[in-house]
Parts: sequence; C-alpha cells; structure tokens
Amino acid sequence: MRSAAATPRTAIVPAAGLGTRFLPVTKTVPKELLPVVDTPGIELVAAEAAEAGAQRLVIITSEGKDSVVAHFIDDRELERTLAERGKHDMLEKVRRAAALITVESVVQPEPLGLGHAVSCAEAVLGEDEDAVAVLLPDDLVLPTGVLQTMSDVRAQTGGSVLCAIEVPQQEISAYGVFDVDGVRTDHDTTVLRVTGMVEKPAPHRAPSPFAAAGRYILDRAIFDALRRVAPGAGGEVQLTDAIAWLIGQGHPVHAVVHRGARHDLGNPGGYLKAAIDMALRREDYGPDLRRWLIDRLHSEETHAP
Ligand code: G1P
Repeated sequence: MRSAAATPRTAIVPAAGLGTRFLPVTKTVPKELLPVVDTPGIELVAAEAAEAGAQRLVIITSEGKDSVVAHFIDDRELERTLAERGKHDMLEKVRRAAALITVESVVQPEPLGLGHAVSCAEAVLGEDEDAVAVLLPDDLVLPTGVLQTMSDVRAQTGGSVLCAIEVPQQEISAYGVFDVDGVRTDHDTTVLRVTGMVEKPAPHRAPSPFAAAGRYILDRAIFDALRRVAPGAGGEVQLTDAIAWLIGQGHPVHAVVHRGARHDLGNPGGYLKAAIDMALRREDYGPDLRRWLIDRLHSEETHAP
C-alpha cells in the first residue's frame, strides 16, 4: 500500500473547548497553545496536516480563543527585530506556523459537542470537496504519517477511514470504540473493517479494544449524518454517532491501526508525557533530559522508604 493517494484539501481542527481539565492555566491560555517543548500543540497538528498534503486548516474556535488563530499570523515587528539582531534560527521558528498551511477559522457559537463543531466547517467547504480530514488537537499521534496511510486506504475502499489505537479495558470508556468484523494486514498496515461505533461505552460493553484516536478522513456525507443524529453521550452531538449512522446506511468505514505513540494533550498527565517524549527525541534537550530523568528516578528509588 504505497500509492500516496491525495489527502483531502481541508483539515478541520476542533478547538472550541473550554479546556476545563487544564484549569487554571486555561483561564487565559487556550490549551491548544500550551507548548510541547517549545511548539504549541496546534502547530504540531497543522504541520501533520500539511505533511499529509492538506492545503488549508479550518480551526473551529469559540469566543475568547482568537490567539489560537493568531499563532498563524505573521508577526512582522518581531520578525524585523530578530532579523536585525541576526537571530536567524529564531526567525525560522517564528515564521514556520504561518508558512505551513493556509488557516481559516469558524466560530462555534455554543459548546454543543464535537460533532456539532465539525458540522460548523461545512459552510466554508468548496462544492468539489468530497471528503475532509479531521484532526483533534488533544491527540498527538507519533510518528506522523497515519493520515497518508488513511488516505491510501480510502483510495481502495472508498467511504470514510479512521485511526484506531488498542486501549486497555480499564481506559476504554474515554473513547469512541469500534465494532469490527474483519482485520487485514497489508505490508505493515493493519486495517479494520468497522461495523459499528459507540461513544464512551462502559468497559464491559465495549465492542472491541480498538478506540478512535482523533484522526479521521470523512466522506462529505458526514455533514448530512450530523444533521440527523440526536445529542448522545454527555448530551452532545457526537461525531461517533454520525459515523455509526453512516455505517447503518451501508457507508463503508475502515480504521487503520496506529502502532506508534499516542498522547492525550488535553489533560496535565498526558501532556507531561507528550512533552517528555518529544523532548527526548530532540538533539538540543534530549541528552540532558535523559541523564536528569535517570538520576531523578534513581535517587527516588534509593531514598524510597
Ligand atoms: C473524542 C471523541 C472520541 C475519541 C477521542 C480521542 O473524545 O469523541 O470518540 O475516541 O476524542 O481522543 P474526547 O476526548 O473529546 O472526550
């Protein structure tokens, strides 16, 4: 499976949430701007979408979160100062976000759920766009590349293609979970045929250990489905329910199993792991952090009661 099929032109990034799991910092700083080492999560997601071939990012925001979009606007004054001071490395970092991809935003007027947030992007789609990518910025999926694999699968199967991770039973209730009736492995890619989906099931009701990991390539039919589903888990319009509705209509849905790392940037515990993981991968901070972590853990063991 190495056909390098086109990824949808538009990647939707829902970023309208209040970030309550991250209070108090999210009183003034949107969680999408918190730094993973030195780069905000929203820039990591934009880079991933651009790398897969998407041409524009539609960020769904809410009132008070303008700074998320501002991160993608050139800061001429800062650039001039850095250029004058000969700080070329920093200049490159500052310019990167704006150069990655075209960014637009759509305001979700009320917090009615992930499905509703995605539906807000329909108004800005071109008539010829038959599919969209959706990237949830809380999910950091490493290494990048799964979106391209999902596009390649869609070129073969049609319909919609999602990303699955295998999750232990005690954690499964935090996710949208797949019902699956067929697994095929092609080279190193495992693809599930999805026959149903349920949002945040009780552990004993989860139909499989495979959960949705925040990367979606959705047929445009999703917008019709989103109009039809009633509010579900948490009283919110769920993307999962719209996908389940499409499956019920005979729409093909598959999921690519991601075998690398996946972090949840939406809560402090997951965010810290993501920051450490990313820092360990870097040449500038990795070696020193590794030494310090080993020492720190060693001294904890030696001084444990
Ligand atoms: C959302 C989706 C869920 C998915 C999860 C992945 O849930 O509704 O289906 O499995 O993201 O992170 P949330 O984490 O926003 O509650």
